[in-house]
Amino acid sequence: MTHSFDQEYWDQIWQGDGGASMGTAAPNPYLARELGDLPPGSALDAGCGAGAEAIWLATRGWQVTGADLASDALARAAARAAESGVTERVQWVRADLSTWEPDARYDLVTTHYAHPAMPQLEFYDRIASWVAPGGTLLIVGHRHHDAAGGHGHGHTSDGPPASASATANAITTRLDPAEWEVVTAAEVDRALSGHGGREVVLHDVVVRASRRR
Ligand SMILES: C[S@@+](CC[C@H](N)C(=O)[O-])C[C@H]1O[C@@H](n2cnc3c(N)ncnc32)[C@H](O)[C@@H]1O
Repeated sequence: MTHSFDQEYWDQIWQGDGGASMGTAAPNPYLARELGDLPPGSALDAGCGAGAEAIWLATRGWQVTGADLASDALARAAARAAESGVTERVQWVRADLSTWEPDARYDLVTTHYAHPAMPQLEFYDRIASWVAPGGTLLIVGHRHHDAAGGHGHGHTSDGPPASASATANAITTRLDPAEWEVVTAAEVDRALSGHGGREVVLHDVVVRASRRR
């Protein structure tokens, strides 16, 4: 894969088959597993796509900002939020998160499979800096996997390139222990139904950390 994960790439994904598959995806299971017991507060979903995770949070009382580069994704997200009756709990922001700066810190910053046109780990550093003291960071990303097999998240049949992947260790070693307590650092394979109904396996990396007060 030789393209950059830039605005043009993501706009094409959302206007094509990728939009059809990602646009109806259910919220990732890690939300309930990792955040089910957290009291709601302010949250940012960085690279929210069609909003499944942001809407999941909003229905549980979080006040959510869903930010994404692609306006087609955000239009889908807004329509789904209206269907779910949580419009007032979610603000959709079209933003390039490699340069955007929030006005305030969040009680929760989460990201699910977002890979921008900047080094993946630097992107995670950047969004981690937006977590308020006492808040939570939840990163769900692609673990690099050599075997071919598309996974329906906007990539070719080769899956994401190494530059868009990470290991749990690579992520957690960048979280200063004086500032962060790592709660979860896991690498998980899970199967789901991809575009056209075929089964695909996602090779996930999941990191949850709490920012010390
Ligand atoms: C693979 S999709 C995942 C969408 C959603 N989080 C999910 O799990 O279904 C990656 C998302 O990241 C967004 N994205 C990529 N680069 C971005 C950037 N620089 N700023 C904001 N969003 C970006 C894309 O537009 C896309 O919606």
